[in-house]
Amino acid sequence: MDKLVALCKRRGFIYQSSDIYGGLQGVYDFGPLGVELKNNIKKSWWESMVYENDDIEGLDSSILTNPLVLKYSGHEDTFSDPMVDCTSCNMRFRVDQVPDSCKKEDLTEPRQFNLMFKTNVGPIEDGESFAYLRPETAQQIFTNFKNVVDSTSRALPFGIAQIGKAFRNEITPRNFIFRVREFEQMELEYFVKPGDDDLIHDAWVQKRLNWWEQQGVPMDSIELYDVPKEELAHYSKKTVDIMYKFPHGVEELEGIANRTDFDLGSHSKKQKDLNIKADVLENKNSNSKLAIQDDNGDWVVPFVIEPSAGVERGFLAILNEAYHVEQLEDDKTRVVLKLAPHLSPVKVAIIPLKKNNKEIVQLAEDVKNDLQKLGLGRIIFENTGNIGKSYRKHDEIGTPICITIDFESLEDKSVTIRDRDSMEQSRMSIQEISSFVIKKLKS
Ligand code: GAP
Repeated sequence: MDKLVALCKRRGFIYQSSDIYGGLQGVYDFGPLGVELKNNIKKSWWESMVYENDDIEGLDSSILTNPLVLKYSGHEDTFSDPMVDCTSCNMRFRVDQVPDSCKKEDLTEPRQFNLMFKTNVGPIEDGESFAYLRPETAQQIFTNFKNVVDSTSRALPFGIAQIGKAFRNEITPRNFIFRVREFEQMELEYFVKPGDDDLIHDAWVQKRLNWWEQQGVPMDSIELYDVPKEELAHYSKKTVDIMYKFPHGVEELEGIANRTDFDLGSHSKKQKDLNIKADVLENKNSNSKLAIQDDNGDWVVPFVIEPSAGVERGFLAILNEAYHVEQLEDDKTRVVLKLAPHLSPVKVAIIPLKKNNKEIVQLAEDVKNDLQKLGLGRIIFENTGNIGKSYRKHDEIGTPICITIDFESLEDKSVTIRDRDSMEQSRMSIQEISSFVIKKLKS
């Protein structure tokens, strides 16, 4: 973990937020390379959900959430962790995360602590006009269920996908970006006929494992955890957690829950007419019937299968898998990030051999501009004049291809292509570069 943290800071992936004022605990900023990697992870998830499945729609809902949403979702009552204070070191911990240095006799009795952040809405701070920062993106998918059904004429099964920020006032944020107070989730709520839920749940577990593998997270770093009944969230009938061997231990990367008809049932009006199977609060405020008509015209409250992954945890797992230290022939070592090319923050670096040679520099700029127009991601023109140093840097940030422009390039319009993983170099004509790069980035 220390090596990953150091690399992230050194190369501009992740910084402590508000660092110049001493930081803010459990909150991080993503730097120039971090934002690219994060965007690439989210893009890959979005493509695999919304573009590759014709029965999934996208959504981008608000972060500020009406308290009634989180009352009927059960979060106001149950979204809490037990916490204790240590009277000796004056620190506060989650009960299961008390460090060994605290003695049992110095700990207070556990108290429940609600993890939701509140903020004031409007100019009057009277304690009444508040909203929550959403603790999961899922709830606004449920509250938009009818909007999406009405505007897309969907029938079961279908899904709504969303990527966005979630906020939790974690008692003990820890392990770098693993447990933080502000993070992003990639969530799908997949609505199915009651009775079809178990099989579709199993299928989603498999699909999600395949996706993680495509992002460079191999199955031998993964364990599945069938969450025991007593540990299930209040809405869940069954949850399978995808657990990853993080540098600090095996922990949850993604949860895939069968949320039954709990959420739509809780947020719905006319609950008594709807044969809701989950145990829901009586809803006195909703103006919408969150149900759908089946082929016989009967109203059904769908069950929900929810794959929910944290972007930061995915980022950490992907980085951890990609990080390699390799021994080189001359007794030196190189750090290389073997990221899947579609995730690499920089796709190609174009490096002129001589930084002050106008013709070489001009040709390098032309090659950069032509490649950038392909829309493959960030292509960098790097005029350091030090090829070896540039290669080392781009190994360390995971750039799959470096292209060097030299004197020969001016003569025969050919360039040197260097492969990140094998370090092999070959000559290629400028004309061939586009198709080569496209093929490499799709591999
Ligand atoms: N909508 C379901 C839900 O929110 P969850 O298991 O609480 O379920 C889903 O969260 C995912 O969000 C987790 O698997 C994890 O990847 C990520 N996550 C949850 N809390 C987090 C935190 N404090 N910091 C970073 N990621 C977190």
